[in-house]
Amino acid sequence: MASGSRILNNVTQEETAERETRNTPGMTDVSKTLFLPLFFRAQETLEGGIVNDPASVAIVRSLGYDNLNFRLDREMQLIISLRTMVLDRITGNYIRDMRAQGKQPVIINLSAGLDTREQRFPDAVWYHVDLESPVALRKQYIRDSHATVIAGSAFDDNWIRQVREREDVLVIVEGVLMYFSEEMVKKLFCLLAAHFKHFWVTFDALAKRYTRLRIHQSIDVSKAGFKWGIGSAHDIEEWDTGYEAMSDYGYYQEYLDHYDRIAGRYRLIRFDATHKVYVVRHS
Ligand SMILES: C[S@@+](CC[C@H](N)C(=O)[O-])C[C@H]1O[C@@H](n2cnc3c(N)ncnc32)[C@H](O)[C@@H]1O
Repeated sequence: MASGSRILNNVTQEETAERETRNTPGMTDVSKTLFLPLFFRAQETLEGGIVNDPASVAIVRSLGYDNLNFRLDREMQLIISLRTMVLDRITGNYIRDMRAQGKQPVIINLSAGLDTREQRFPDAVWYHVDLESPVALRKQYIRDSHATVIAGSAFDDNWIRQVREREDVLVIVEGVLMYFSEEMVKKLFCLLAAHFKHFWVTFDALAKRYTRLRIHQSIDVSKAGFKWGIGSAHDIEEWDTGYEAMSDYGYYQEYLDHYDRIAGRYRLIRFDATHKVYVVRHS
């Protein structure tokens, strides 16, 4: 790692652990994983890598959070950076398409954690949904937001009552479905289908066989554990016939496209078949 690229200097592992405990009262193991993508986007930004997300750097600095286990997990940093790029592109395309049709883009960020995509794409109506304790953290640390922030489980329909728009919305579910059972994931997709019309869902998922492996240092530390994996986006079509698989994006092509910038810092990893971003449309 390049010298001077640490997010915080002179912070010990003990201090980081103490700050994590202070920042996570009442949080579930899955909720504590919100620090992972935040941390990796910040670290990648400081290294001048493939993500440019100064908002995440600022949040990590104000949290005083610099986790050694995260810092050493270079593979996860790459995966999250590539996932960020792919989802940013999908978000940008959606906003452009809506504007071209004279419509207001509306983005529902389910399980938002401390995600900063709104700061990169402010030209949309945003909703962030997460459990109570992460929402409190979000309100405390992300001030430059015009979004509606809703405390509640993504898997219950309470949050939907607070969303005014019910058509043509983009639902983003990033970095979370793998922590839930297939029954819960199906429940979420059916819930969306019951309440929204003509909408898109974009989410990242692991290949089924991959959920049994425990190979990510940073995930192991979080104790959250992987549960759900996908065969293909056609799995979703079987849960509700209104869904249509639109596209899936492996990260390998992204890796090759940015090879000059990242190859020196990461070894070539063949994760293309195991981690993907999907887009499904409901009409
Ligand atoms: C790995 S984090 C991802 C955060 C964010 N999407 C990102 O990519 O930066 C997983 C998030 O899922 C949230 N979560 C866990 N259970 C949830 C539930 N039942 N409803 C809504 N969000 C939940 C956690 O609180 C946490 O913020």
